[in-house]
Amino acid sequence: MFLHGNSRIDPTGQLVIAGVRASDLAERYGTPLIVYDEELIRGRMRAYRQPLEASGLAYAVAYASKAFSSIAVCRLAKEEGLWLDVVSAGELHTALAAGVDPARIVMHGNNKTEEELLYGLRAGLAYFVVDNFHELGLLHSLAAAQGREVDILLRVSPGVDAHTHEFITTGKQDSKFGFDLFSGQVEQAVALLKDHPALNLRGLHSHIGSQIFDVEGFRVAAERMAEMYARLRDEAGVTLSVLNLGGGLGIRYTREDMVAPIEAMVSGIVDTVRTSFSARGMETPMLMLEPGRSVVAEAGTTLYRVGSRKEIPGVRTYVAVDGGMTDNPRLALYGARYEASIANRMAEPDEETVSIAGKCCESGDMLIWDVPLPKARAGDLLAVYCTGAYNYSMASNYNRLARPAVVFVRDGAARLVLRRETLDDLVRLDVGD
Ligand code: LLP
Repeated sequence: MFLHGNSRIDPTGQLVIAGVRASDLAERYGTPLIVYDEELIRGRMRAYRQPLEASGLAYAVAYASKAFSSIAVCRLAKEEGLWLDVVSAGELHTALAAGVDPARIVMHGNNKTEEELLYGLRAGLAYFVVDNFHELGLLHSLAAAQGREVDILLRVSPGVDAHTHEFITTGKQDSKFGFDLFSGQVEQAVALLKDHPALNLRGLHSHIGSQIFDVEGFRVAAERMAEMYARLRDEAGVTLSVLNLGGGLGIRYTREDMVAPIEAMVSGIVDTVRTSFSARGMETPMLMLEPGRSVVAEAGTTLYRVGSRKEIPGVRTYVAVDGGMTDNPRLALYGARYEASIANRMAEPDEETVSIAGKCCESGDMLIWDVPLPKARAGDLLAVYCTGAYNYSMASNYNRLARPAVVFVRDGAARLVLRRETLDDLVRLDVGD
């Protein structure tokens, strides 16, 4: 059985998540429901910090809240000593509403608006990760107008292909993100900073992609970054004290995905950074990492109620559930793969291979192609695993479906952290009569 963290099967064959029966959660909160194993999230946050703490380096682990942004998860990050990475005024607003210290927030984005930059400036964020020349000028003028100085990192596109799905790779050279490392743009930006006294350059940032299973991509990125730090030191007399290597560690969506423990990956990254910098006679900078998926994905399970069924003899059987691409667009967008079970009949053997369809008016609204299951009946509860990252955060109201509720469970107790949208919520933005 494919279970993560504190999920078990009870003697009656029911799925139990962190001590609470999935069927009880569905009864109490309705479906679709995203259930998070809170201890698993906390464990992943600690797994990032532990090897960095042990390394003796100055460090920060900033949870990439784009993976799942909510007040509750920001609070967990805060409690576990993590920083936060935000990419919009909305994510920043959520982090601040959770009481996260702005001095532990990093702001990203390839086209931050003036309003977003101002919000960040007023809040007093730790670092703005400046993505391009336009932002360099804009942020400087906004900061200067307020008589402030801000700490910045420059986002660099290091040209590393982390062997990942083309659509979710952000670090290759052909990318909309960051200053190109190979055409003198970084040097040019650094030179420009001499005329931008409100911006204090502290370091560079790179993010090489998603679902990364080995340290090699980080090793190449660290080498290229160290090379650039050395060049800036030698040619521009600039000393940088922070290195942000982004996020991207992979998780086990399916049983075929083989992942190294986070601790081992992070230790490997620490070693490779140390080696790259010491080889050039430089001190290892403060190391920042920005994990999103690997912190929350495996902790999330979506519970759906099974409804209709369509059997096409000799072709395929579709089993439809009460959610779909509105709460999980990842198959439609990336061809993502998931595992699932019937949560109320976990001990029964698989009897058929079916495909799980959503309820939206769109043929591409599929959750899983070809999953072996016991015979699914209307009213069964389907659990889809590893839906904790980029599901709720990418949810939509297509067909005016309500976004699901989200609960955190821990030690046999559940708490609602995001309520289900109501029909009235769905018309709350409509104006006029
Ligand atoms: N830092 C930066 C600058 C990023 O662009 C990202 C993700 C992260 C950190 C966090 O990466 P993670 O540890 O979660 O892999 N919607 C896609 C994923 C897009 C990732 C975008 N950037 C998906 O559903 O797979």
